[in-house]
Amino acid sequence: MERTLVLIKPDAVQRGLIGEIILRLERRGLKLIAAKFLQVNQELAETHYAVHKGKPFYEGLVRYITSSPVMAMVWEGPNAIAAVRQTMGATRPTEAAPGTIRHDFALEVGRNLTHASDSPETAAQEIALWFKPEELYPWDRATDAWIM
Ligand code: TYD
Repeated sequence: MERTLVLIKPDAVQRGLIGEIILRLERRGLKLIAAKFLQVNQELAETHYAVHKGKPFYEGLVRYITSSPVMAMVWEGPNAIAAVRQTMGATRPTEAAPGTIRHDFALEVGRNLTHASDSPETAAQEIALWFKPEELYPWDRATDAWIM
């Protein structure tokens, strides 16, 4: 079982795609175990994107993620890290496979709608950066009990 951090970035919030993105992850079979809607400050943005500091797109990336609120979530499931990145598609929307979120709803790498952790190490770091341990709510499926 893995956990991964997912961000619905400002462009997706502005375009009314929160529900669409959650729908696709939930339908895939992944389980939502934490969520918050927040305005990202400069410090959080710079820590989250520290690995990209110095790259030509870094400053624009920080401006973008701090420009308007985001939805931050933790999703859990078998191979959740790879599964979420597959559902999101390649970083550059024009290289993303049809049927992925980035292919279906985006055109520009600088407005690619979502973020998802790319390894178990970054997932652990990013979940700890965005959420306090007590903000995670793991739960078991008990489908029958809710539809009887
Ligand atoms: P990266 O971690 O490489 O991609 P991903 O989000 O798919 O894990 O890059 C982080 C973000 O930086 C990416 O979502 C969009 C932005 N970015 C650019 O704006 N231009 C670029 O050339 C690259 C590689 C990334």
